[in-house]
Amino acid sequence: MEPNRSPDELLFFVNGRKVIEKNADPRMTLLTYLRRKLGLPGTKLGCGEGGCGACTVMVSRFNQFQNRIVHYSVNACLAPICSLHHTAVTTVEGIGSAKTRLHPIQERIAKSHGSQCGFCTPGIVMSMYTLIRNTSEPTMEDIENAFQGNLCRCTGYRPILEGFKSFTKEGCCGKRTENGCCRDTNGANEDISVSSALFDPSEFKPLDPTQEPIFPPELLSYEKPP
Ligand code: FES
Ligand code: FES
Repeated sequence: MEPNRSPDELLFFVNGRKVIEKNADPRMTLLTYLRRKLGLPGTKLGCGEGGCGACTVMVSRFNQFQNRIVHYSVNACLAPICSLHHTAVTTVEGIGSAKTRLHPIQERIAKSHGSQCGFCTPGIVMSMYTLIRNTSEPTMEDIENAFQGNLCRCTGYRPILEGFKSFTKEGCCGKRTENGCCRDTNGANEDISVSSALFDPSEFKPLDPTQEPIFPPELLSYEKPP
C-alpha cells in the first residue's frame, strides 16, 4: 500500500486528475460519480444495464501478471467505483475537446456525419479510442467488433464505419492524390473507397499515438514490482 494512506481510501485517476474517496459508497457507479461528483457529463446514461454503450469509458491499469499497462473499455453505468482502486479512467473529455484540440477520432466521426443527435457519440468514440490504444492500425473487422456494445438510433451506423475506415489499412490514409487513395491499387479496393462528396479524408488530422495521455506514474509506483 502507498505510504501515509488509510487502507479504506479509494484512489484512482480520472483524465489525469487524482481522486481520493475517503468514504466510498459501494453502491455508487462510476457513471453517477463522473456526472454528479466530478461534473463530467460527456459520459451518458442510455439504459443503465450494459446494453447501449452510451456510458463507455476507458480504464487503464498496470497488470502485474503481464507486467504491462492494459487498456479496456467499461460500461460506467455498471462499474462500481469500489472496483477502480489504482486505475486510471479516461472519459470523452479526457481525449480532446473543441476548445483545445479534437482527437482524430472525435474529428473523424463528426466530419464523416457519424453523429446526428450525438447522444451515442461519446460512447462510440471511447470504444474506438480503446481499440486504437490497443492497436494503432485496426482492421475493419476489429472496428466492427469494437462496437458490439454500442447502439445508435440515428445514423444507421454506416457513416460511423466509413469515417473510422480511414484508420485502417483498407481505408484511405488521408493522402488522396488525383488518382484516388494512394493505397488503392488497380482498383482492387474500389468497393471500399469513400465518397469525397460527403467528406474529404485528406482534411483529417493524422493519428499520433505518442500524443496520448500517459499512465499516471504515481500508479506505476504502487503497482509495479521494484
Ligand atoms: S447506460 Fe447503457 S450501457 Fe451503460
Ligand atoms: S447519433 Fe443519435 S443515437 Fe447515435
